[in-house]
Amino acid sequence: MRTEDPRPIRLKDYTPPAFAIDEAMLDIELDPARTRVHSTLKMRRNPASKETAGPLVLDGEKLKLLEVRIDGELLGPNRYSVDGEHLTIHEVPEGKFTLETVTTCAPEENTALTGLYLSDGIYCTQCEAEGFRRIAYYLDRPDAMTVFRTRITGDRKKTPVLLSNGNPVKSGKTKDGRHFVEWHDPFPKPAYLFALVAGDLAHVEDKFVTMSGREVTLRIFVEKGNEDRCAYAMEALKRAMKWDEERFGREYDLDIFMIVAVSAFNMGAMENKGLNVFNDKYILARPDTATDADYAAIEAIIAHEYFHNWTGNRITCRDWFQLCLKEGLTVFRDQEFTSDMRSRPVKRISDVRLLRAHQFPEDGGPLAHPVRPESYIEINNFYTATVYEKGAELCRMIHTMAGPKRFRKGMDLYFERHDGEAATVENFLDALADGAKLDLTQFKRWYRQSGTPEVLASGRYDAARKTYTLKMSQVCQATPGQPHKEPYHIPVAVGLVGPDGKDMALTLDGEDKPGAKTRVLNLTEREATWRFRNVEAKPVPSLLRGFTAPVKLSANLKERDLVFLMRHDSDSFNRWEAAQRYATGLLVAMVEAEKTGVPARKGGAFAEMVNDLLTAKKIDPDFVAQIILLPSEQTLAQIIGQEVDVDAIHAARERLRASIATQTKDALLAAYTRMEVTGPYRPDADHAGRRALRNVCLGYLSAAPGDEGIALAAGQFRTADNMTDSIAALSVLSNIDCPERREALDAFHERWKGDHLAMDKWFSIQAMSSLPGTLDEVKRLTGHPAFTMKNPNKVRALITNFAAANQLHFHAKDGAGYRFIADKVLELDKLNPQVGARMLGAFKSWRQTEPKRRKLMQKELKRIAGTEGLSRDVYEIATKTLA
Ligand code: TRP
Ligand code: ZN
Repeated sequence: MRTEDPRPIRLKDYTPPAFAIDEAMLDIELDPARTRVHSTLKMRRNPASKETAGPLVLDGEKLKLLEVRIDGELLGPNRYSVDGEHLTIHEVPEGKFTLETVTTCAPEENTALTGLYLSDGIYCTQCEAEGFRRIAYYLDRPDAMTVFRTRITGDRKKTPVLLSNGNPVKSGKTKDGRHFVEWHDPFPKPAYLFALVAGDLAHVEDKFVTMSGREVTLRIFVEKGNEDRCAYAMEALKRAMKWDEERFGREYDLDIFMIVAVSAFNMGAMENKGLNVFNDKYILARPDTATDADYAAIEAIIAHEYFHNWTGNRITCRDWFQLCLKEGLTVFRDQEFTSDMRSRPVKRISDVRLLRAHQFPEDGGPLAHPVRPESYIEINNFYTATVYEKGAELCRMIHTMAGPKRFRKGMDLYFERHDGEAATVENFLDALADGAKLDLTQFKRWYRQSGTPEVLASGRYDAARKTYTLKMSQVCQATPGQPHKEPYHIPVAVGLVGPDGKDMALTLDGEDKPGAKTRVLNLTEREATWRFRNVEAKPVPSLLRGFTAPVKLSANLKERDLVFLMRHDSDSFNRWEAAQRYATGLLVAMVEAEKTGVPARKGGAFAEMVNDLLTAKKIDPDFVAQIILLPSEQTLAQIIGQEVDVDAIHAARERLRASIATQTKDALLAAYTRMEVTGPYRPDADHAGRRALRNVCLGYLSAAPGDEGIALAAGQFRTADNMTDSIAALSVLSNIDCPERREALDAFHERWKGDHLAMDKWFSIQAMSSLPGTLDEVKRLTGHPAFTMKNPNKVRALITNFAAANQLHFHAKDGAGYRFIADKVLELDKLNPQVGARMLGAFKSWRQTEPKRRKLMQKELKRIAGTEGLSRDVYEIATKTLA
C-alpha cells in the first residue's frame, strides 16, 4: 500500500483562484537534458476571490527551481518554500506585482508525455489537463486565463522550426548557432491550451478564406518525408472550417492555424489554441498506408480539434469537473459534421456501437461516474467514454427536443453570453434553455446521475376502438455512491409500422388531426402511457428511433416483429437495431446450447435477410455492411452479463457465422465480385462503403467450410492496391491456421517494416488473433525491434488491444492473460501512468466473469493495488475497480 493515500478533489469545494494573472511571458531555452524556462507573470489578487490575504501557491512538478523574483528583487530561501507539487511564496505585495521564476526541466527524461517532452527528436508539449506545471510554476487551472507571450530559443540545425500559440511576432539569430522566435497569442487562455513545438519539421501549406473574407494560413507540420501524406488532413480541415461557419456561424479567429503530427502522443490529438498537436496516425494518410477507417478517423478528429476553438478555447471550462462542457459538446459537433459529410445512418450506428461497447460497461461497472463527476483523484482518468460519448448524447437529446433551429438559437446565446469565459455546465444549460425555449430542469439530472436507465415498453392494440396504447416505464440501477435515482427526462422517438410495412401518421389522444410519422414522446415519470387514435390495423412499434436517448430499451418484441422491422422499418437505425436484436437472441440461445448440449435453432431469418440484401437491385453498401455483421463477442458478453464464458461465446458466434456463410454463399460470392471498386482509390463514403461490404463478405466466406475463403483472402492480400483491402485480407488470414497466414504476415512485415504506422497495424492484427498461442506470440512481439514500451501507439496496438479487444485470450482460463497485462500495467506505471491506467480498464468487468476467472482477475487487481509507490492514475483505477 501507499504510505499516504491520495486525496480526492471535489466539485463542491470549488473556489475561484486567489490570484489573477494579467499577462504571462515565457522565455524558453530548449535543451534535451536541461531546458531553461524563465517565466514572468504579471499578477494581482483576484477580485473574484474571497481570500484577501495569504500566500501565493503555484503548481509545479518535476521542476528544478533556480530563481524567484518579485518586482525584480531576488527572494531568499526564507521567503518561499518548495515541495514536489508546489511553490509557495509566503508574502506578496498588496497590489499588482511581477513574479519571475527560473526553472529547468528535462524533456529527454519525460516518458509520461505530459509537459515538455521529446518525440523522435521533436520537442512538443501536452498540457491538458495538468501538464503545464511540468514546464513552469503556474496557476495550473482552467479558470486562470491570460494572454501568453512565448519566446523560444533553440539550435538552428536541430530545431529550425520553433512554434507556439498565436502569431509569430519576432525572430532572429542568437549566439552559438541558435535562433529564437517570439509568439503572441492575443486570446486569453488557460495554461492547458499552451503549446510549444520545435524540431526539424517539414510542412504543407494552404489557405482558407473565412465567411467574413479574412484569409487564414493553414499549415500542417510533419517529419520530413511525410509531406505526401498530408493532403487528406488538409482538405478535411477546410471542410471542417466551412461547416462550422455554416452550421454554427463560427469563424476562425487568428491569422494562422497550425497542426503538428508527432508519433509519441498519449491520446488522439489536442486542441491547443492555433497550434493543434496530433498523434500522427490521425494526420498521415496515403491510399497504400491508411485504411478507410483511418481516413474517416482523420476527418473526424481534425474536425473535433478544430471545433474546440469555440467549444473549449473561446469558451473554456471553469474547472475539470466541467470537462463534458467542452468534450461532450465537441463530440456532438464532430458527429454532426461526419453525418453531413458521410452517411448519417451509418455514422449513428457506429456511434451507438461505440457507446454500447465502451460507455455502457463503464456505467454499469465499478468505475461508473456521472457525465459531470463530483470527485476525482486523477483527472486524467476522467477522459472517459462517459464524459465524451454520453456527454455527446446529452447534447444530442437537447438537439432532439429543441429541433435544429431552436438548438442553434440556444447555441448562439451560449456563445454570446460566455465568449472569453471559463464556464460551467449550468451556464450551458441555462443558455440552451433560454435560447431554445426549453425547460431543462429535470433534464439536468442526466449530468448528475450515473448509470444507464432502462426503459421498458409495451403496447396494446385495440382493434374495436382502433387505438394503440403504449406504456413506458424507467428504472436505473444503483451505481457506486448513488443508491437511488430520480426519474430522467427521456425523449423517445416513436413510429408505428403498419402491416404493409409503411409508417402510420400518428394521432395522439386529444389531437384532432394526424401528426408526423415519427413523434418524440417525453418520458419524465417512472411510468407513463400514450394512446394513439385512428390506428387502422395492428402496428409493430418502432421505438427509440435514431437512438434518441442513451438507454437500454426492452420492448419484448416477438421474433417475427424483429424480422419485420429489420426488413421494413423506415428508420435505418432501427432496422439495424432489429437485426442486431434478432441475431443476439439467436446467439445467446446458442451459447446456452454450447454449455448444455441442447441444440439451438438455425436462425434462418437472418441468413435470409443477408441473402435478400446482397441480391437486391439497389443497395446502400455501407449500410448493408453494418446490418449483416453479427454482434461482437464483447457485445454478447455484455448482454449475457453474468458468469460469462468467453469460449462458449466464441464457439457459438463462429458456428453461426459458418452457418450463415453456408446458406448464403452464392450471394456472398456475387456481392464480393460486384462490390469490387475499379479505378483510382478514393477514401470517400461511397467507395469506402463498397470496400466495407466486400470485406464483410470476405469475412463470411472465410467462415464457410472449405478453403475457398483462404484462397480469396490470400489473393486479395497479394493484389490489393490499398491498405483497406490489404488489412482486411490480413485480418481474415490472421484468424486461420494455414500457411497463407504466415506468408502474408511476413510479406506485410517485409514491405512495411520501415513504416511505424503500418507496423502498428501488423502488431494489432496479431494481438487480436483468435488462434491458440496468441499470448505467447504477443509476448514474443514485445521483443520486436519496432516495438517499444515508450511509444503509446505501439503499446496500444500490441498490448492494450490484446487486453481490450481479444476477449478470448485475455480471459484465458489459466489466468496467463491477466498476469501478463497486470505486469505490463505495473511496468507502464513507472513510464507512462496515463497509458497504464487505461490498460487497466480491461479489468473492469471482472465481477461479470465466471467464478474461477473472477478470482484470478481479483488476484491481479490486488497485486497492483498493493504495489508500493503507484501513480495516482493506476492507484485510482485499481482501488475503485476492486471496491
Ligand atoms: N482535449 C483532447 C481532445 O479531446 C484530449 C486530450 C489530448 C487529452 N491529450 C490529452 C486529455 C492528454 C488528457 C491528457 O480533443
Ligand atoms: Zn476533445
